Amino acid sequence: MNRPSPAELVAAARAARDRAYAPYSGFRVGAALLTEHGDVVTAANVENASYGLSICAERSAVMAAVAAGSRSFLAIAVAGNGPDPVTPCGACRQVLREFPTGTELEVLCAGESGDALLTTTLGALLPDSFGPESLRES
Ligand code: THU
Repeated sequence: MNRPSPAELVAAARAARDRAYAPYSGFRVGAALLTEHGDVVTAANVENASYGLSICAERSAVMAAVAAGSRSFLAIAVAGNGPDPVTPCGACRQVLREFPTGTELEVLCAGESGDALLTTTLGALLPDSFGPESLRES
């Protein structure tokens, strides 16, 4: 597998951010999800006039990847259009937790431009989490 570098994954997230539909918040986010086979699935946030129906870039990327046949992910890069790195919201953390990599998933958080990058794991972002195996313990 020809794994993209962190910088390449962040570049993919930033390119996807250009396709965000965020007329209400103006906060544009792109995500790039690296599958176990080395494919990169990208998506952006999509907002709605009924605000609560807006969908984050990260969850859009997960849905697109699963619909395309991938369920195992190595890393996700997220890039917003502000100066600081964007970390996934709580709902997106839980959705990412669902898949086999679980807490080991690498999470690369970036801002509008530049090299500032927060590199972490899903386990650090979502400690003591609930996942599919939790349902099998009873
Ligand atoms: N948003 C994302 O797409 N990902 C995040 O990690 C944080 C928030 C979106 C949701 C909404 O469209 C806008 O950013 C403002 O919250």
